[in-house]
Amino acid sequence: MDALARDLNDLSAIGADPAGGITRVAWSPELMAAYAAFAERGQAVGAHADVDAAGNAFLRWSAGGAAGAPGEGGAGADGATPAFLIGSHLDTVPRGGAYDGALGVLAGLDVLRSFQARGDDPGCPVWVTAFMDEEGTRFGTALFGSRAFAGHDLSDLGSRADRAGVTIAEAMAACGHDHASVGSAARIDAIRGYLELHIEQGPVLEQSGEDIGVVTSIVGLLGLQVRLEGQANHAGTTPMGLRRDALAGAARAVLELRDLARHTPAVTANVGTIAVEPGGKNVIPGACDFSVDIRAADRATYLTLDEAARGILARIAAAESLALTITEIYRLEPVPMATAFVDALERAAELEGASFRRLPSGAGHDAQIIAPHVPAAMLFVPSRGGISHNPAEYTTPEQCALGSRVLARAVMLLAGA
Ligand code: GLV
Ligand code: MN
Ligand code: MN
Repeated sequence: MDALARDLNDLSAIGADPAGGITRVAWSPELMAAYAAFAERGQAVGAHADVDAAGNAFLRWSAGGAAGAPGEGGAGADGATPAFLIGSHLDTVPRGGAYDGALGVLAGLDVLRSFQARGDDPGCPVWVTAFMDEEGTRFGTALFGSRAFAGHDLSDLGSRADRAGVTIAEAMAACGHDHASVGSAARIDAIRGYLELHIEQGPVLEQSGEDIGVVTSIVGLLGLQVRLEGQANHAGTTPMGLRRDALAGAARAVLELRDLARHTPAVTANVGTIAVEPGGKNVIPGACDFSVDIRAADRATYLTLDEAARGILARIAAAESLALTITEIYRLEPVPMATAFVDALERAAELEGASFRRLPSGAGHDAQIIAPHVPAAMLFVPSRGGISHNPAEYTTPEQCALGSRVLARAVMLLAGA
């Protein structure tokens, strides 16, 4: 087993869920244990390891010595040479797989290991990061760490609570972090470029038999939390025509949103969580809360989604005599990848003898937060069966290793340029 495969294997044991798969959510002991394993491996290749105010774990490396943390006076610190950043995330969806996010972070470590072993000097400090809470599983705050790094204002998120009622501020405090200090994680000005290796999470590369996907753009996402309120009442005595059944309204919404996506090219819609109140077999559902995730690859279509989704929800609520509340959870426009970086990834793939194709990403990634600020791009390796967000996620050690080599080549082409 090569070092990257061993790291992936070791990490998959951290947060192994008794129900199957891996669950490592934001600010959890499992995620902190994964950070510790990442830091330990980074230190072994001569990197400085630290965690910033937003909970992003960093390895900071320079040819010939560790690159100090910002403000510590080392390379890549204030006034010093901007660093090249490689990133992804170590948090997971509930019962997720071993590759989504983890591959990109551990491949970054693998790149440092190869630079160190060969004595390669990319020409500037190289940082590898695991961004906090890419998935948003626990608090609905996807891309928290990369947003903080890019300087977004996250000060109003401290009171956002998980299902157990624990707020972000409390969860951060339990890990020794202060939510009031998240603003100091804004360090986008300290980097000169960003690359992220990820599993494709779809079937294209496997079906085409190609080794590497060079990502051209990342999908736009709209996340809504919807509440429909009717009236809880007796299931057997209330005539069918008089019911205000919140779940029936939600069911209509699930299907109509699916139809909207089916009839609009390059659009997806998903209702992935749903909860009914009060939740009795013989009680008409009085209220229903559900999530809506809608995505579009191109900007023009993306800009129509909000109105279309809200229109569907309002029409159904009126028809079912339900009160409707919509809370926006995330809104991220589609983002193109930097042309020069896309070209460099293709060149790097050629140099490694890898076959490749360009393709857009239908998944959200930290790269889409970084890309509006500094040149950024992504490369994909194949996903067996196109499966992801599932314990069956799999990419062979050879495919992972090739992705890591292409990543290293691309960093060498881009970092000193
Ligand atoms: C991240 O995995 C997303 O696309 O939701
Ligand atoms: Mn994911
Ligand atoms: Mn991911």
